[in-house]
Amino acid sequence: MELKRILLGVTGGVAAYKAAELARLMVKDGLDVQVVMTEAARHFVGAATFQAITGHPVFSDLWDERVDNGMAHIDLSRGVDAILVAPASADFLAKLVQGRADDLLSTLCLARDCPLLLAPAMNRQMWEAAPTQRNVAQLQADGVSLLGPDCGEQACGEVGFGRMLEPEDLLEAAQARFQPKRLAGLKVLITAGPTFEPIDAVRGISNSSSGKMGYAVARAALEAGAEVTLVTGPTCLTPPREAVTKRVTSAQEMLGVVEEAADGADIFISVAAVADYYVLNRSEQKIKKDAHILTLELAPNPDILANISSRPKPPFCVGFAAESENVEEYAELKRRRKHLPLIVANDVNEAIGSDDVQLILLDEGGRHVLPTADKRSQARRLIAHIAMLYNQKYQ
Ligand code: C5P
Repeated sequence: MELKRILLGVTGGVAAYKAAELARLMVKDGLDVQVVMTEAARHFVGAATFQAITGHPVFSDLWDERVDNGMAHIDLSRGVDAILVAPASADFLAKLVQGRADDLLSTLCLARDCPLLLAPAMNRQMWEAAPTQRNVAQLQADGVSLLGPDCGEQACGEVGFGRMLEPEDLLEAAQARFQPKRLAGLKVLITAGPTFEPIDAVRGISNSSSGKMGYAVARAALEAGAEVTLVTGPTCLTPPREAVTKRVTSAQEMLGVVEEAADGADIFISVAAVADYYVLNRSEQKIKKDAHILTLELAPNPDILANISSRPKPPFCVGFAAESENVEEYAELKRRRKHLPLIVANDVNEAIGSDDVQLILLDEGGRHVLPTADKRSQARRLIAHIAMLYNQKYQ
């Protein structure tokens, strides 16, 4: 089931201000967000902020007359796919354990028929306290999902567990909860981003790949239940928390890391825009500027994907082909040359660095067009297709 409508509960804690960012990210992601705040939350952040972000009135009061039939305690959670309480205070966890219903949010949590997700946020000692830990264990036994908390610096200046997960991570964790686990138990290796081929101590040759597609594929694979290793060239992006991330610079470095990681991998998705050449006459020191013509000698880089796909027992290999002309024809030639069960073709003119992209999947069965959409959605569709082909082949 897809996550489309969510009730975002906000309880009283300093992290309540981050819930506004979370609501914004959710709306940006296409979710319909209904915010319910506790009275205490209103001391930390204003309802008007959430109202402006979500386009819906914010509720706090059990007796709110704005709900048509006076049944706010039931109506607001009807039809939502999940309730996410972020931040969830220590007091709110205790309330849920006892099944108390003395304010609107706790009542909605009790009168629900959808999953309940909690993002605890509290001082380190409050989190570690025996009653809180007992409550957490009871909530988990009751089937409630806990997202976090994280370890780190807290508003009170102490360091430890109790920090709310960052809004991006919370949204990702909530989304992941609703994706079919098509790749459960499988190890997926993904390359992403550009490579950087040094010319000297400070300069180098690279390309304009942002890494967005590869990182989106890594996230989609994680959501589908896979164990993910992400080998990434230099990008400005934050890798998904649950992936094992290995940062590399040059193609040769990427090859070394990929060869090792590919040993245990079931699926290899090669999204990286690997530089075709490296600089043969590279200088260790910074090259000094002078009036002469400088000649760089370029030698071909190893083809990482072809290296892996030509193994005697290769993982299920998926390539990407960014082309500027004859997109499908060139991509299909690559697919055959590199012995790939699947290649993903896209037009460089629209794909590189952008957020939206059209993908054409080419496999033994022919072509499958994934019409233009954001990279996150495309990555999920691609993972669904890979899982289907993988299962056809191996199960
Ligand atoms: O041949 P071409 O570079 O267009 O092939 C693209 C596909 O091959 C992509 O999946 C890319 O990640 C992979 N590749 C590679 N190593 C290279 C060049 C490309 O793994 N040196």
